[in-house]
Amino acid sequence: MTQSADATIEQPAVALASAQGMANPDIWPAYDYPVPLQPDDEARIAGLLAAMTIEEKVGQLVQADLCCVTPEDVKTYNLGSILVGGNSGPNGNDLSPAPDWLAAADEFYLSSVDTSDGGVGIPLVWGTDAVHGHSNIIGATLFPHNIGLGAMRDVALIEKIGAITAKEIRVTGQEWTFAPTVAVPQDFRWGRAYEGYSSDPDLVASYVGAMVRGLQGPPGNDDLLSGPYVIASTKHFLADGGTDNGVDQGDSSISEEDLRDIHGKPYGPAIAEGVSTVMISFSSWHGKKMTGNKSLVTGVLKDRMDFGGFVVSDWNAHGQVAGCTNESCPQALMAGIDMYMAPDTWKPVYEDLLARAKAGTIPMARIDDAVTKILRVKGRLGLFDAGKPSDRPLSGQYELLGAPEHRAVAREAVRKSLVLLKNEGILPIAPGGRLLVAGDGADDIARQSGGWTLTWQGTGVDNSHFPGATSIWDGLKQAVEAGGGSAVHSPDGSFTQRPDAAVVVFGETPYAEFQGDRAALALDPELTKPYDTIRELKAKGIPVVALMVTGRPLYTNPALNAADAFAVAWLPGSEGGGIADVLIGDTSGNARYDFAGKLPADWPRTTLLSEGVLYPYGYGLDYSSPAQGWAALPELDTEALAGDSRLWFSAGAPAARWSLLVTGETTGEQTRITTVPAEALGGRARITAENYLVQEGARRFTIASGNASVQLRNFEPVNIDRETNADIMLLVTAKVWESPTSARLGAIGEGSRGFTAFDMPQNDEFVRYGIPLKCLRSNGADVTSLTQPFVLETSGPTDFALGEVRLGTDAQQILPCS
Ligand code: BGC
Ligand code: BGC
Repeated sequence: MTQSADATIEQPAVALASAQGMANPDIWPAYDYPVPLQPDDEARIAGLLAAMTIEEKVGQLVQADLCCVTPEDVKTYNLGSILVGGNSGPNGNDLSPAPDWLAAADEFYLSSVDTSDGGVGIPLVWGTDAVHGHSNIIGATLFPHNIGLGAMRDVALIEKIGAITAKEIRVTGQEWTFAPTVAVPQDFRWGRAYEGYSSDPDLVASYVGAMVRGLQGPPGNDDLLSGPYVIASTKHFLADGGTDNGVDQGDSSISEEDLRDIHGKPYGPAIAEGVSTVMISFSSWHGKKMTGNKSLVTGVLKDRMDFGGFVVSDWNAHGQVAGCTNESCPQALMAGIDMYMAPDTWKPVYEDLLARAKAGTIPMARIDDAVTKILRVKGRLGLFDAGKPSDRPLSGQYELLGAPEHRAVAREAVRKSLVLLKNEGILPIAPGGRLLVAGDGADDIARQSGGWTLTWQGTGVDNSHFPGATSIWDGLKQAVEAGGGSAVHSPDGSFTQRPDAAVVVFGETPYAEFQGDRAALALDPELTKPYDTIRELKAKGIPVVALMVTGRPLYTNPALNAADAFAVAWLPGSEGGGIADVLIGDTSGNARYDFAGKLPADWPRTTLLSEGVLYPYGYGLDYSSPAQGWAALPELDTEALAGDSRLWFSAGAPAARWSLLVTGETTGEQTRITTVPAEALGGRARITAENYLVQEGARRFTIASGNASVQLRNFEPVNIDRETNADIMLLVTAKVWESPTSARLGAIGEGSRGFTAFDMPQNDEFVRYGIPLKCLRSNGADVTSLTQPFVLETSGPTDFALGEVRLGTDAQQILPCS
């Protein structure tokens, strides 16, 4: 607060306003929301409003996640909407087959319109993150993530992609996608940067209208459900891609002009196309959370820009607004949120809103306004007359999921999004010879699809979960064989028969929110092994193409230097064949398709973009480009720079800023473990090295008797509040020779502790246990300030090894919360 007090003295009025996160709507462009009000809908809505109880009205404002709501709840509380978050799915399974989704859609719909309790029975609307195709569904067509589409520069194809996505969604009965993301990422250390098309606001703006039109049809469209459409949601308003240092859900300290001209730009075309919903960003502007920012949500978006659909908040984002909790936040409604995404908190949020509505502390007019906006969108969808999901057009036509004509469009997008950064004359590869395909990412459809694919982080799935899809390796093999040659897949690059050429596929592994944020624009050290493969193949005189799978431009100078050609595939999705279309030529050695992709953002020279651009936005070679003449690029030691801040202990050592401690009964009884073998607790504990993934990659704790705990401590208290909200777990990889006695796992803060019983049975293998951070919080840990975020206690003899401790979602065994 002292800061803004100082600002009062020093800054002129307008700058002062924005310094406090207060926008001035007058300086923003005005638009006209083109969706006509339908007289029949308006009459119906007026009638409904008059008939609805306060309970029914409040219910419309609340959206629950499938994790935590039953059809019965929807009926009882008249909930306006449900969503399926990245980790949810029908019957508690995010990998449920498509027919289960349609069955669940029917069940929820039927409960929502059930009027046996005397209510009005308003059909609910179901939202899903179909962010690159209907990407929660097994067998659906998976398009390149937005960053790849940005590289392709093809507006017409964007509309087709939107239309196909809408059709595939309709097969399984949902009506609403939380897409397109229209972020304009300015710092690619942000782990969600790939969800945005480009760092260039004009390029993003040029796509948005087409995507919205593909999904919803033209703005004059009424009764969307009678055609092949769904409603769209442009997200996340505003400056999700503009946070300082690219921190997810962070703060943006830019000027109001930049807010408008960079991040606000895509909302113009979205509104001009009549987008039905806008999702508000988790992030803040000058310290004020967007979800509570009335000047932006109501002043700019609704009033100035004339957005006439409804505004939905993000996943418990209301809980982050100053003065709010996950359970209570009237401030969000008053700021202009119409629907609360309250995944697991819908009941307290509902009860809180209801109590306030009854007490008159939130105005009925604002509630009626929000309900009206939601019902208008439902009217535009045609939801009131559409009948149950399985009776609507396209429902249950499962052959449309991943239909050949849909996959063909995706493949075209893959082809067009490939960006060529280097070609010393070796591309296209003639198909007649012997091709070696190496690297760790060639035959991995989950990896080439990235986050938000079947699961939230895109982890925990393998090729068997992608029926009908083509890996990059499969595509190359097919093309080479069709041209009369042969192909071998050898991840480490070893071979028995000398190949004529090699493609080495490497790059990032899947991530989504939180998990993707990095401190530097570099690959995690464990992902750089293919650099050696490239060098080894080159040393044997084999021409090498480096093919990078990535959600963002990263420092990769070692691969650029070593390989003869370098192409970026981004996150291509299910149609890996599009890559071979361009890389593999025809039998006479000519290209079948040329490179068309151009960089959607600057490519860095080092691990920080501020240190220079290697290839600027818009760069991309094709087969007619003149030879470049290669000058070796500087190579850096990135080991220390890169890495995931969520990795606390691995390869036998705590991460930088962390220490590994063994403690006993009293605070004095504490030893910091640096080298092994070591002894602690007066000889009661012995710490040795154990192999895990790499030699001596784990630490083994042999405790002879008594109370003891193994802890990781950070120099500064750690705040994992946001991760706790987002269903992230503490992942502990351990091997157990002798089970600890009444073991407990937990976290300690300054004056707070949260523990849960930890059943660690004897096990011959390393097992990755996961404990939901929520559990530590509900058991008392103050997750905003933890000094020892990892503590494993035993009250008797034990013998176990720790391989890894980190945050994540890919547990092999989830521990129950006790
Ligand atoms: C994300 C949104 C997403 C929503 C529902 C949020 O955490 O930020 O982009 O639509 O969850 O899964
Ligand atoms: C959900 C995501 C959501 C995230 C919120 C996860 O548990 O599955 O859909 O985006 O939490 O940060």
